[in-house]
Amino acid sequence: MSAAMLPPFWVLIPAAGVGSRMRADRPKQYLELAGKTILEHSLACFLEHPQLRGLVVSLAGDDPYWPTLACAGDPRIERAAGGRERADSVLGGLQRLTELGAEERDWVLVHDAARPNLARDDLDRLLAELAGDPVGGLLAVPARDTLKRAGADGRVRETVDRAPIWQAYTPQMFRLGQLYRALSDALVAGVAVTDEASAIEWAGLAPRLIEGRADNLKVTRPEDLDWVRRHWARKD
Ligand code: C5P
Repeated sequence: MSAAMLPPFWVLIPAAGVGSRMRADRPKQYLELAGKTILEHSLACFLEHPQLRGLVVSLAGDDPYWPTLACAGDPRIERAAGGRERADSVLGGLQRLTELGAEERDWVLVHDAARPNLARDDLDRLLAELAGDPVGGLLAVPARDTLKRAGADGRVRETVDRAPIWQAYTPQMFRLGQLYRALSDALVAGVAVTDEASAIEWAGLAPRLIEGRADNLKVTRPEDLDWVRRHWARKD
């Protein structure tokens, strides 16, 4: 499908987390990868897309790294105030998108700041598959390994059927108004939401799973960054 046939969309990158599992001297989205920061790579796939309407990055108030990046001066990118939890950072970003002209029924794609290897084919498939969907959905990858449920003693209680199990990736694509209401209601109710889809599920809707590439991984631990560096070196 040509890009002009895909729906217009807005992008929101929550980038206000510290990523303590990386044990680095700065938040993981600011670690170096192939001459840029991880965050700049995570933005790149969207900035090249002709259907992008606007992009917001939610940042911690005391973030000293963002202003040093070349993309901080990009007129297509706006800042929003991050919050205590990821859901707070997303809500702040959605408010900023509304100020920029995004409307209730517009599509918003939320993408992790530390997911630098999103392929354009995956982005276009997500947009094409969900363009007419009443709910929206997310890129996801079917579980590949055999899964075990552990007991408190660290021993296997049982083997879990992996057939219906998927790993939730990003981007996650929902309509602005629906996502805003689902997230704020979930927060008021004290429900833990670790991604946008969980808020939509909590609101009683069923997001669609769109199978994506497993190498669209989120950099969480030091070995993930080593893996992306090696993967890119092989591609060049
Ligand atoms: O820590 P984790 O990898 O699960 O974070 C996922 C995404 O949510 C990251 O892009 C992180 O910067 C963002 N986040 C945020 N505000 C928070 C916590 C996490 O924007 N308070």
